[in-house]
Amino acid sequence: MNAKGRGVTIANVTRAPRTLCFDIGGTGIKGLVADVKGKPLSERVRIETPHPAIPKSLLRVLGEIHAQQPAFDRVSAGFPGVVREGVVYSAPNLDPSWVGVNLAGELTRICGKPARVANDAGVQGMGVIAGKGTEIVLTLGTGMGFALFRDGRYVPNIELGHHPIRGKKVYEDLVCDRERKKHLKRWNRRVQFVLSVLEPCFNYDHLYIGGGNAERLSFKLPGNVTVVSNDAGMLGGVRLWDQ
Ligand code: BGC
Repeated sequence: MNAKGRGVTIANVTRAPRTLCFDIGGTGIKGLVADVKGKPLSERVRIETPHPAIPKSLLRVLGEIHAQQPAFDRVSAGFPGVVREGVVYSAPNLDPSWVGVNLAGELTRICGKPARVANDAGVQGMGVIAGKGTEIVLTLGTGMGFALFRDGRYVPNIELGHHPIRGKKVYEDLVCDRERKKHLKRWNRRVQFVLSVLEPCFNYDHLYIGGGNAERLSFKLPGNVTVVSNDAGMLGGVRLWDQ
């Protein structure tokens, strides 16, 4: 291979795709650039979610975060609702006007690079799972996110948070951030209850708990349940490109 050829090889290594990873939440919107292994290449930027969380305002925030980032090659986003082929189908903790928005298309327009979008709990999970057996991810934040993985493959858009668990109450009614703020001890008991329902139902090998409120759990977790860092979850955006 000539010197020019070697030059191309080196350039390819150093240009390994860098991903601008966004985590869109009901309370905050975060973004950072990570390398292909998920190593952060920039400081995480966080901006409060605007209210009302309509597409126009939220897309403006994504643009602000983008403007503060170093160079990148592609974009990923975790979105708090059902997303199919980059298009939003639901956004219960944001605003109904999100339904039908092609968020992947909007991100490409704002950032000038190809973009992929998936449910936030799914993206979080991609950053933390081991890739073996049945793995579940619960996110405890504004709402309750849920993601199921089988041998590393994501089964998208299971909205367990909106499934009834006690009378007419759905999972999210019991363990959302509003309830945590009202009564932390009761909220802890409820998360424990949710785990006791999920365990014999899914018979998972491992369950991961993420989201901003995961650090507020105060009871002893079973051996096959771990709390994961929110940042690790953001880096699932890199793996979204491998799914
Ligand atoms: C949404 C889920 C989302 C979760 C956490 C729920 O209200 O329906 O799609 O993953 O909140 O953001």
